[in-house]
Amino acid sequence: MDFNLTDEQQMVKENCRRFAEKYLKPKAAEYDKTHEFPWENIKMLGEMGMMGVVYPEKYNGSEMDYVSYAIIVEELSRGCASTGVIVSAHNSLCLSPIYYFGTEEQKNKYLSKLTTGEWIGCFGITESGAGSDAAGTTTTAELKNGKWVLNGTKNFITNGGVAHVAVVTAVTEKGAGHKGLSFFIIEKGTPGFSVGKTEEKLGINASSTTELIFDNCEIPEENILGKPGEGFKIAMHTLDGGRIGIAAQALGIAQAALDEAVIYSKERIQFKKPISSFQAIQWMIADMATEIEAARLLTYKGAALMGTGERRKYSKNAAMAKLFASEASHHAAHKAIQIFGGYGYTREYPVERLYRDARITEIYEGTSEIMRLVISNNVINEY
Ligand code: CAA
Repeated sequence: MDFNLTDEQQMVKENCRRFAEKYLKPKAAEYDKTHEFPWENIKMLGEMGMMGVVYPEKYNGSEMDYVSYAIIVEELSRGCASTGVIVSAHNSLCLSPIYYFGTEEQKNKYLSKLTTGEWIGCFGITESGAGSDAAGTTTTAELKNGKWVLNGTKNFITNGGVAHVAVVTAVTEKGAGHKGLSFFIIEKGTPGFSVGKTEEKLGINASSTTELIFDNCEIPEENILGKPGEGFKIAMHTLDGGRIGIAAQALGIAQAALDEAVIYSKERIQFKKPISSFQAIQWMIADMATEIEAARLLTYKGAALMGTGERRKYSKNAAMAKLFASEASHHAAHKAIQIFGGYGYTREYPVERLYRDARITEIYEGTSEIMRLVISNNVINEY
């Protein structure tokens, strides 16, 4: 067992940290305030190969390993959590199903533009009545005259308002439950496909979260991903990988909260001493650092297992990583505000933003309750 990063992974970590410190962190508060999509960040990340991290060079990807991917999302999120989730949803949720389940034609047509960041991607399974119950989809796709005709509305779609390509689930066989779902690729500009309401959120304000509306939207027959009826399994496979991305995002937010809290505690004088000299503060810092270290180990292990390509090996670990890292992130941001005291509750310091940004990591890509379900199902089946 080796707990050290490889030289290459260490270099990725240092480069991303420098990049996030220089370009992301200074603008994170402004993006949070304006809710503007950080195009500038995404353009730079595309040029750096961060929009197609693990995908082969033949599709213009960077062909890095999955641990490097987790490190990238962690370090970007440490600077700006909105940018972190944009990169994660794009890489993990849109590119992954095209890469793992797409035809060669689909990979050449879509993946090659998505990996460079020329196109942004989104993933739609959630609907108003299908959240944790991902098989409760009501959006339909009917094959008519050689075209799939889609009708329905997807909700809470990360990157929804900016995406050039959406991958979504729809019912192709009514009454067949999860076996009746299929997965489709839809391009922006297709008649009948539009972006609906943009959500006003608690945090990750620079990321775009919208509805996707399909109103007799016709797409070519070949735009199905995998075979009819495989949609649910493709969605679950995709989410296993996505959960590593969200664990890494949560980890980055938690690390930012610890960094801010430690620096502040050494500068803030009360009772004629820096507050870092008080045991009450030291214990909070110890708990934050311990949970972050544990979250990092779980996340990197999940990512390493994901690199083996065997779903059974990492589904449980991805859920454990997301569950633990998201809760650690919430705890770290909560304690950081406590250490900052009244200042922590104001917009003058970044910890209130970190607290708002952390909260979603316990919800999207599977709530903490669903993560416990996935973990317990896997553990019970191991006996
Ligand atoms: N990989 C592949 N197949 C899987 C799988 C996985 N990880 N998990 C389950 N399956 C298969 C099962 O083997 C089963 O196959 P068979 O029918 O052949 O036996 C089938 O899928 C159905 O499995 P379940 O009976 O376990 O399915 P379920 O309906 O009980 O649901 C669930 C399971 C875990 C609750 C699932 O619905 C789930 O993960 N829900 C959460 C959905 C979610 O994460 N949504 C997030 C939306 S995306 C998002 O948030 C993006 C964003 O904004 C950033």
